[in-house]
Amino acid sequence: MEELHSLAKAYDQEDELREFRNQFHIPTDDQGKEKIYFCGNSLGLQPKSVAGAVEKELENWRTKGVEGHFAEPEPWWTYHKKLKKPLAHLTGAKEHEVVAMNNLTTNLHLLMATFYQPTAERYRIIIEAGAFPSDQYAAESQVRWHGLDPQEALVELRPRLEEEILRTDDILRTIEQYRDTLALVMLPGIQYYTGQFFDLQAIAQAAHQAGAKVGYDLAHAIGNVPMQLHEWNVDFAVWCSYKYLNSGPGNTGGAFVHERYAEDTDLPRLAGWWGYREEDRFQMKPGFKPMYGVDGWQLSNANILPMAAQRAALEVSEQAGMEQLRKKSLKLTGFLEQCIRAFDPNRKYIRIITPENPEERGCQLSLVFSQQGKQVFEKLTQSGIIVDWREPSVIRVAPAPLYNTFTEVYRFSEILRETLS
Ligand SMILES: Cc1ncc(COP(=O)(O)O)c(C=O)c1O
Repeated sequence: MEELHSLAKAYDQEDELREFRNQFHIPTDDQGKEKIYFCGNSLGLQPKSVAGAVEKELENWRTKGVEGHFAEPEPWWTYHKKLKKPLAHLTGAKEHEVVAMNNLTTNLHLLMATFYQPTAERYRIIIEAGAFPSDQYAAESQVRWHGLDPQEALVELRPRLEEEILRTDDILRTIEQYRDTLALVMLPGIQYYTGQFFDLQAIAQAAHQAGAKVGYDLAHAIGNVPMQLHEWNVDFAVWCSYKYLNSGPGNTGGAFVHERYAEDTDLPRLAGWWGYREEDRFQMKPGFKPMYGVDGWQLSNANILPMAAQRAALEVSEQAGMEQLRKKSLKLTGFLEQCIRAFDPNRKYIRIITPENPEERGCQLSLVFSQQGKQVFEKLTQSGIIVDWREPSVIRVAPAPLYNTFTEVYRFSEILRETLS
């Protein structure tokens, strides 16, 4: 194991992103000792710049009151636009295709209201059987909202018997199988439980060939893996910003709508005043005229305090760059796998259900223990390691390239080995 320790130290030394850790607050125990935080897949850590950014807007509010809405140089009424550039970089989109607004599930409903328009012929939605509950509830309630039966309208994808992850071929085959009745394919970018990164391009292509729309939940993908939503022709996508974007608990989510819908004012949508054309929004006229691009789906004026935090957090990701983040992430997660396999080469204690192929996963590895997984999780927590437990049987471990180190991965694997023995 000493070899792995030396390797970890060498990797840390040559890590081009190593200084970024200093830009984050690392949680500590009662004695002030830093914990090992591998839970950025659930809630990213707080960048040190966030407090100042929020304080600045509190100050604006304190000193300007309502005039802050239009006060130069950074009026609140256009504040959401400050987030567009980094969000476009992270998703592989044009700036008018992305917007920060609402929360993930709200955005999912809003965009399904536009892109799920069932007809007598086309009414089915393909979704995973193991989808995150909020997505399941959203899809099911949308189907019922349209007066349809979820049993009939929802097609649930399941892994094959004795398998944990969905095969791309099986997804494509299912799309083909339902091609005549399919309205929408709605899948995650990265599956929250297994950590599987789906082939978003191939799925989008197949959905379109079948005459359906495609929408993705990028909660676990944004800031974790590079994407090209524009080029892949994705119809819509939604995300939250509190995981790999480090914006803070429950912070504002975001949405992508492809450019080809930017000027389509006939699309059915649930509208609000913030989606109305900017140039005459404040004339308060009846009759909704949407803004160009995804901004036309906004409902309400921007929530400035959370967005100030998000803006500061996005600047950190922007400085690092998605390409560099991915490069380090591949190495970091690969090293985690290597360390686990070094003490459990025959998978006697731990099964990793995340795909082995690094191209098919992000930061996260999902570990299933042959016995007493929950107790292992509790022991790790007592040892100052923050990972998470997901029912029924998984510990999710996600070293984040912005603030985690190779030495932490090594120490984690040592504590895990000791816990198991
Ligand atoms: C994959 C996935 N989808 C949806 C959600 C729900 O997000 P929100 O509560 O922001 O609507 C989460 C939250 O963790 C998630 O992980």
